[in-house]
Amino acid sequence: MSTSPDLQRDFEYVWHPCTQMKDHETNPPLLMERGEGIYLFDQEGRKYMDVISSWWVNLFGHNHPRLNASVQKQMERLAHVMFAGATHRPAIDLAESLVRLTPDSLTKVFFSDNGSTSVEVALKLSLQYWAQKGHGEKRRFAYLQGAYHGETLGALSVCGMDLFRKPFENVLMDNLEVQGPDCFRCPYGLKREACDAECFEHMDRALNENHETLAGVIVEPLVQGAAGMKMYPPVYLNKLTAACDRLGVHTIFDEVAVGFGRTGAMFVCENLGLKPTFLCLSKGVTSGYLPLAATLTGEEIYRAFYGDYEDFKLFVHSHSYTANPLACACANETLALWREYEFPGALEPKINALRAGGKKLSELQWCGEYRQTGMIGALELVKSRETKEPFAIGERVGYKIYQEALKRGALMRPLGNVIYFMPPLVITEQEIDSMIEIAYDSIRAVLGKTESH
Ligand SMILES: Cc1ncc(COP(=O)(O)O)c(C=O)c1O
Repeated sequence: MSTSPDLQRDFEYVWHPCTQMKDHETNPPLLMERGEGIYLFDQEGRKYMDVISSWWVNLFGHNHPRLNASVQKQMERLAHVMFAGATHRPAIDLAESLVRLTPDSLTKVFFSDNGSTSVEVALKLSLQYWAQKGHGEKRRFAYLQGAYHGETLGALSVCGMDLFRKPFENVLMDNLEVQGPDCFRCPYGLKREACDAECFEHMDRALNENHETLAGVIVEPLVQGAAGMKMYPPVYLNKLTAACDRLGVHTIFDEVAVGFGRTGAMFVCENLGLKPTFLCLSKGVTSGYLPLAATLTGEEIYRAFYGDYEDFKLFVHSHSYTANPLACACANETLALWREYEFPGALEPKINALRAGGKKLSELQWCGEYRQTGMIGALELVKSRETKEPFAIGERVGYKIYQEALKRGALMRPLGNVIYFMPPLVITEQEIDSMIEIAYDSIRAVLGKTESH
């Protein structure tokens, strides 16, 4: 038990997310005091590199003077106003910018306040659209094994991870889980760099057999984050959007995690020239400052809700903090920083440095696979390279490595046996090298000292 009075009070009063609170009897949380750039500082002044951007939100670093000023300036004018019957310039500016940055087919922005709610909005819009078009039978969604789209009940209904959905299984919507890409353990024996997404056959079958009752398909484009940064090739998404368009099924691209430059492109859909029916955004939109989310869609959906009041076709979905002006102002400044960042050119050397780091990590005998998409790198640890046998969850290998990395000054919270890197985009190449070194040393410290080269 911690001797710090603040941490004792934390243990007494606070229930932390995604945490077995009993762990805090012996390992209290870090009491963070301040942030600066890619670093966080605890109450004793210890410095930690924010390797995973505080759950994938931070892009331009902590305590950024421009972002600070944008919030401060807005605060002095208007901190908040309800968003029904009132509007404000920060939200109008942001909606316009998001529409300009995303595919032409996306023309309308519906704001909410976190990634899960952006998904809820997409699911509800899709269901209501079909109902209003006289297709009430289209009320299920297909999602991939390993999918993660947030933790509200609607979002859990399209979650393909038992860890999150199991306790609620009995009350979730009757949706359709589909076997998706599993490139590390590809059942077809193929490599993601060269395959034709043969695994799409499962989704193809699911769509052909169920399209009459399917409202939509939801995916995390290119990277299934919470599943362990599982990466799959763009061709899967090409096939998916083509099949859905042909069969009249909505496509929901959940770019909550991968949006805003993480993959090396601003948005996956825009970069691949794909036109999803809905696009969900959050996390990086305010560069990790304030909660905000957006669900984008196009005219076809919007028009189905447009009419006289007494038709009751309106979308009745509201959050008190919808389009909070402080968050919108911060998002607008985040986009201003993007414009000055010389994107994507400025990211290229960093992506290369991360790739070089991945090569070094691949030398470790426990490296099952190092994979990378843009500025997201992930190392999947295995007991045996030959058989790809995973470490048992009970061994808590990732957690132990996380603890070792903390001692070395990096906050590297893992996903099971996957150690991954998703740093703020302002990280330098030298800092990427240090991050990799810390990972390398921490893994060796936990798993032994004998590598086979
Ligand atoms: C792909 C994806 N969708 C949705 C969410 C949920 O976002 P939030 O935690 O803001 O509700 C997450 C969070 O990690 C995510 O990775």
